[in-house]
Amino acid sequence: MSKTHTNGSNGSVDPRSKHFWTTRDMPPQDGKVVIVTGASSGMGWYCAQALAEHGAHVIIAARSLDRSIVDFAKAFKKKKLPLHTLVNNAGVFLVPHDHTEEGFETTVGINYFGHFLLTHLLMDKLKESAPGSRVVSMASLFELLGNVNWSDLEGKKARESGIFEYSTSKVEIIMMVREMNKRLKGSGVECFASQPGLVQTQLNMRKLDHSKLTSNLLDISTRIYGQRADRASLCLQRPASDPTVTGYGGSYFSPPWLWILALNFDHAGMREPGNSLARDEAAWARLYNQTLLIVNHKLQEKGLGSIEPITA
Ligand SMILES: NC(=O)c1ccc[n+]([C@@H]2O[C@H](COP(=O)([O-])OP(=O)(O)OC[C@H]3O[C@@H](n4cnc5c(N)ncnc54)[C@H](OP(=O)(O)O)[C@@H]3O)[C@@H](O)[C@H]2O)c1
Repeated sequence: MSKTHTNGSNGSVDPRSKHFWTTRDMPPQDGKVVIVTGASSGMGWYCAQALAEHGAHVIIAARSLDRSIVDFAKAFKKKKLPLHTLVNNAGVFLVPHDHTEEGFETTVGINYFGHFLLTHLLMDKLKESAPGSRVVSMASLFELLGNVNWSDLEGKKARESGIFEYSTSKVEIIMMVREMNKRLKGSGVECFASQPGLVQTQLNMRKLDHSKLTSNLLDISTRIYGQRADRASLCLQRPASDPTVTGYGGSYFSPPWLWILALNFDHAGMREPGNSLARDEAAWARLYNQTLLIVNHKLQEKGLGSIEPITA
């Protein structure tokens, strides 16, 4: 069904020409240690399940009221385990307007800043386990509508936790992935981004703020068009496990636009994101540097030290 050609990074079939990939294509994952955030339900759960069924030691990072991201990273490091793959999947969408304890608007705080911090805290473990280590981060088709608010990355002045905040958090994830991948060149750690289309999960079905018209329209569309979460999680499973994508760090796993509305294909191919910021290297670096300053300021306020910029 898909066109194939032979100019892959290792001389084999180019993985960019493979659009259909299923859990059955996953090679054994024995010996690998993987962290999946937000895996108490939805696509994170199915990704964690598939990796565990193929032999990986999977650690689920779920929401906790009394433990922070910093505590989680410390507790993980105490286990003295290697870390081969980090899947940054946790996220919120159209939730009631609020701010995190650190003062971030909820959506950008959880979807973007939280994963930026966690990835930096675990980077030493990923490097120790290289080559072949990976960071896979969940974006969304809404990246297309994202626009970085350079004067207020934290969303302090945001008046809602709506589509703009969500879209922005997701294009920022793609920019983070591409900047980190660039910085990590030669380290044996690669970073990927994913988007699954429209999916029937708790994110859409249960947690939406139904006081908003956009939430209700999305709810209806998802019930009609949304694909199953197990199928949709292939966009995380493939970059987390497929050896043929080594050398393609920075890639974006996404269904083709028309297929977003086509139900339940096993699509886990690579595409280009729609937002021009995803191709703007100067913007990636600017966002990375500003984010690092903000995160370190917040950590220092809490007496939690600081994180170092990523280098190979
Ligand atoms: N569903 C879609 O149509 C769609 C489309 C594109 C992208 N996505 C993205 O896919 C990812 C997974 O979402 P999903 O659709 O599978 O929905 P889901 O079932 O609601 O999964 C979201 C997960 O994130 C967790 N989470 C939320 N806030 C957290 C926090 N502060 N700390 C730790 N965990 C937290 C949730 O935990 P709790 O159960 O404790 O809340 C849940 O396990 C999200 O990043 C979302 O933006 C979804």
